[in-house]
Amino acid sequence: MSDLQNTAVLGAGVIGMSWAALFLASGRNVAVFDTAENTEAATRSYIDMAWPALRELGFLKTGSPGRISFHSSPADAVRQAEFIQESVPERIAIKHALFAEIEPALKADAIVASSASGLTLSEMQEGWSDPSKLVLGHPFNPPHLIPLVEVFANARTKDGVIDRAERFYRDVGKITIRLRREVPGHVANRLQAALWREALNLVMSGVASVKDVDTAVWAGPGLRWAAMGPTMLFHLAAGPGGISAFCERYSDSFNRWWDDLGRLHFDEAMAKRLSEEMAKEVGGESTAELSAKRDALIVAMQKAIGHVRSE
Ligand SMILES: NC(=O)c1ccc[n+]([C@@H]2O[C@H](COP(=O)([O-])OP(=O)(O)OC[C@H]3O[C@@H](n4cnc5c(N)ncnc54)[C@H](O)[C@@H]3O)[C@@H](O)[C@H]2O)c1
Repeated sequence: MSDLQNTAVLGAGVIGMSWAALFLASGRNVAVFDTAENTEAATRSYIDMAWPALRELGFLKTGSPGRISFHSSPADAVRQAEFIQESVPERIAIKHALFAEIEPALKADAIVASSASGLTLSEMQEGWSDPSKLVLGHPFNPPHLIPLVEVFANARTKDGVIDRAERFYRDVGKITIRLRREVPGHVANRLQAALWREALNLVMSGVASVKDVDTAVWAGPGLRWAAMGPTMLFHLAAGPGGISAFCERYSDSFNRWWDDLGRLHFDEAMAKRLSEEMAKEVGGESTAELSAKRDALIVAMQKAIGHVRSE
């Protein structure tokens, strides 16, 4: 059990509010700082929205939405905190300025984890006079529902900090993976980027509509990927010979497909095409309605997966 009971959430946007809900649900105290004026109302309303799903997932053993406090400076928010999750915008200057402001106020044993999606730990360490408390703790949206957190520390991180951070994440219900070396986008975003590049290539080259490419993912391989990773699935795709038999049977096919994959760069035409096709697909549904639908599906899947995994 992690001893880190007092948390702080810096930046309470899409990601920070979701972290706050999860930390509260796990019985932690949460101190919040965000520069926006409506932070308290928006965060409380997000937590009310997230609470039923967290209850359904069995997270509310000791949690209470009342253990949250809102602060007028980041230094105030972190002063009592043992674990701080930073989720301010993905701009290095903003992260550096925030780190400089909190560094003198941190407890000696505090851990600061950054949600950064693509910025690397070493880039972020440049904002510290002593970056030994900083780790990468990259979640997937929304962090209160998707289990994955990618963690990374390097030689400038104090010994033991990454182990304590992973223990904390496991305690609040997360599944962690550890990077062995840093790369922009870490692991999971690079995987998403690789798949999405080809999805857009198929759309832009006239092979299929946005809707059909999306369907090909969620109704096909996506369902399997939620059960097991791609290499394990291929291990099961060529009979009892496992992955060796699969490589023997399909390496020529993969080489042919890899050689033909698109190499795109985002441009205006692509953004316009996506907006037009999405407008048709979405119809009148708001992003809030679609997010609620997404969250209900994720909760249902999580419950099913959790049940099978715990057997
Ligand atoms: N959105 C995603 O899907 C996603 C997923 C994983 C990680 N992340 C990462 O999480 C971080 C936050 O992303 P987001 O999507 O929540 O962004 P967001 O724009 O929704 O939220 C950022 C919040 O930070 C606040 N803010 C701005 N400057 C600040 C400061 N100096 N101090 C405190 N608060 C400040 C803003 O008011 C806003 O509420 C980024 O590093 C992003 O890469 C995003």
